[in-house]
Amino acid sequence: PVIYLITPTHARLEQKAELTRLSHTLLHVPNIHWIIIEDSSEKTALVQNFLNRTNLSFTHLYVPTPPEYKMSQEDPNWLKPRGVLQRNAGLDWLRNNTSPSHAGVVYFADDDNTYSLKIFEEMRYTKKVSVWPVGLVGYLRYERPIVNNGKVTAWYTYWKPNRPFAMDMAGFAINLKLVHKYPEAKFSNAVQRGFQESTMLTKMQLTLDDLEPKANMCTEVLVWHTRTEKSRTKNEEKMVKLYGTGSDPNIEV
Ligand code: UGA
Ligand code: MN
Repeated sequence: PVIYLITPTHARLEQKAELTRLSHTLLHVPNIHWIIIEDSSEKTALVQNFLNRTNLSFTHLYVPTPPEYKMSQEDPNWLKPRGVLQRNAGLDWLRNNTSPSHAGVVYFADDDNTYSLKIFEEMRYTKKVSVWPVGLVGYLRYERPIVNNGKVTAWYTYWKPNRPFAMDMAGFAINLKLVHKYPEAKFSNAVQRGFQESTMLTKMQLTLDDLEPKANMCTEVLVWHTRTEKSRTKNEEKMVKLYGTGSDPNIEV
């Protein structure tokens, strides 16, 4: 089966660094197709050029987050959902460009997480939905599905463990067939905080019984919810003041 990765991405100082790191991981993974969706009203030159230089099989899409849902620099990171319309654009692309009989697995891979190569082989043979732990998330060392006798029965998470699927976006992959079977299943900016994953999987008529625990019955951490420190550039202004000129805007970072 082909692994389809759906990656929302947005412009910020660290974007090219994140995409470079992720693409280098993906270069080690056989049989994948990277769907990268920019949060913007057009394809940016930076992402376009970046993708054209990778040797990965990719599809480049874009859709802007409406201004009322867009995070501002000052917003705490939990205030607004991120990547919602971008992931939906990825799902719609799959519905329009793959056939329901085609063997595929879909994974929502944010651009800033850290992925072990092993996680891709764990997810590749997903029948419906496979699940595994995610490290460095939820203000815990990890969150994970709790498995009893080979079945997921509950969630190890501090925050709202009673959510139907109390896991991070990085903690599951779905069979492509489900994406075709439930054309109405999508993420939404209107969903209660922390319920994106649950809403999507519930719309696909899934229950705990359908979940396939991977990563040694969910005892191994193979993906980490890393977050990159915001780079500050306050000395740029000082350079201008002191020397009359700052960094060259033609040099892409
Ligand atoms: C956590 C979860 O891990 C995400 O899967 C979830 O989307 C997010 O919370 C949420 O609450 O919506 P976090 O690390 O806080 O993630 O979020 P980011 O990594 O900043 O964003 C998730 C993805 O959306 C990234 O691929 C990012 O590039 C993209 N994004 C972010 C946009 O497309 N637009 C934005 O304005 C911000
Ligand atoms: Mn993130």
